[in-house]
Amino acid sequence: MSTEPEYLCLPSEAALSGTLSVPGDKSISHRALLLGGIAKGSTTVTGLLEAEDVKATGAAMQALGSGVEVLSEGLRVMGADRCPLSTSTKPLDMGNSGTGIRLLTGLLAGQGLGATLTGDDSLRSRPMGRIIRPLAMMGVDIDAADGGRAPLEVSPAVRLRGLHYEMPVASAQLKSCLLLAGLGAEGLIELLEPAPSRDHTESMLRAYGVTLTHEDREGGRWLVMEGGQSLAGPLSIDVPGDFSSAAFFMVAGSIVPGSDLTLTNVGINPMRTGLLDLLREMGADIELLNPRESGGEAVADLRVRSAALRGVDVDPSLVPLMIDEFPIAFVAAAVSDGVTRVRGAEELRVKESDRIAVMAEGLRILGVSVTEREDGVDIVGRDTLSGGTVHGQHDHRCAMSFAVAALRAVAPVTVRSVANIATSFPSFRASLNELGGQVEERGGTAP
Ligand code: S3P
Repeated sequence: MSTEPEYLCLPSEAALSGTLSVPGDKSISHRALLLGGIAKGSTTVTGLLEAEDVKATGAAMQALGSGVEVLSEGLRVMGADRCPLSTSTKPLDMGNSGTGIRLLTGLLAGQGLGATLTGDDSLRSRPMGRIIRPLAMMGVDIDAADGGRAPLEVSPAVRLRGLHYEMPVASAQLKSCLLLAGLGAEGLIELLEPAPSRDHTESMLRAYGVTLTHEDREGGRWLVMEGGQSLAGPLSIDVPGDFSSAAFFMVAGSIVPGSDLTLTNVGINPMRTGLLDLLREMGADIELLNPRESGGEAVADLRVRSAALRGVDVDPSLVPLMIDEFPIAFVAAAVSDGVTRVRGAEELRVKESDRIAVMAEGLRILGVSVTEREDGVDIVGRDTLSGGTVHGQHDHRCAMSFAVAALRAVAPVTVRSVANIATSFPSFRASLNELGGQVEERGGTAP
């Protein structure tokens, strides 16, 4: 018997309304703890996401020696001059977090440190070969479980070479891992991505005084960093609200008739906002209010009013710009007029779950016609969804997406396996209910 809780989600009876400030950006929160721990000088962080994934990164950094002080507002990461890091003899548990494990592996390599990094069942099934191979080219020795999976035993690297590397996937986790390793390399780190991915690591490294450039050559835009650079604090990082958490309410507000929501202080880095472009193309009414800059990142308030959505062919160039938003985009497609086609999104199969399979199965239970492709889906939209019991498969974003789908169902929807919502958005249910949703959490039953 599983004791994992589940959600009982009632269909919406009225429009959603109100103002919500979503929790801090997960990607930036991880990076603040990681980079702050290797900088010389302290880093003050406000708005840090308090969720399981970020806590795992914080605990791992503290196990390596990083010092953190809690302030009345936010926290201070001491920096490596006051709290130097050292090799850990105890395994570090990165929980459910792909960002945590991949970035920390690169950080260890770049600092000449060793540790064994592991995580939960999902994390131990995800591909790590994508970081192991280029790190090996730099001279980092990593012993992995079968198939290039975690646990990863990272040996302290003595001498790291530079790297000239065409990345096989557009992945900010891979890019960031290699940049962090490159901080300890002799020579240049030159990376070419097949498409641009989120650039929070580059922005934060620059804020710490690291020089990174782009060079157009060999038919692409190379990211170039000289190895051997160090990070200089002090620095203040104000973490904006997470666009990926706001995404659930962008869709909820769009699909419940009469809704009018405002989401405040949301990060709108253009490498993250593919869902906004897609929803607008589908007919959504989302306005960016008060655009401004905060801590080197673009932020705005988003006003979302309901609108009739139509199915579209998703431009494959949007895929890396909305990679975490596909589960909720599939929900928007499920209640749109016409067919939505997604291609070029095979990365969804190696996220916290196989998100194509998990969402297809759940949406079918809710009465939607979904055709799975290896690299995407075809979803035929309907006016309303059926009630039923769906399974989040321990994937936070799939579970939250099904809770939003329930708003357009004609009968209650039970979402099994919701515990991992705490990895990114512990206050999700309270926030949805505050805006007019009716979601109750109950003790779990057998999976
Ligand atoms: C992240 C990058 C993305 C994203 C993940 C967070 C990051 O992964 O899916 O949730 O913080 O760098 P990939 O870079 O592997 O696509």
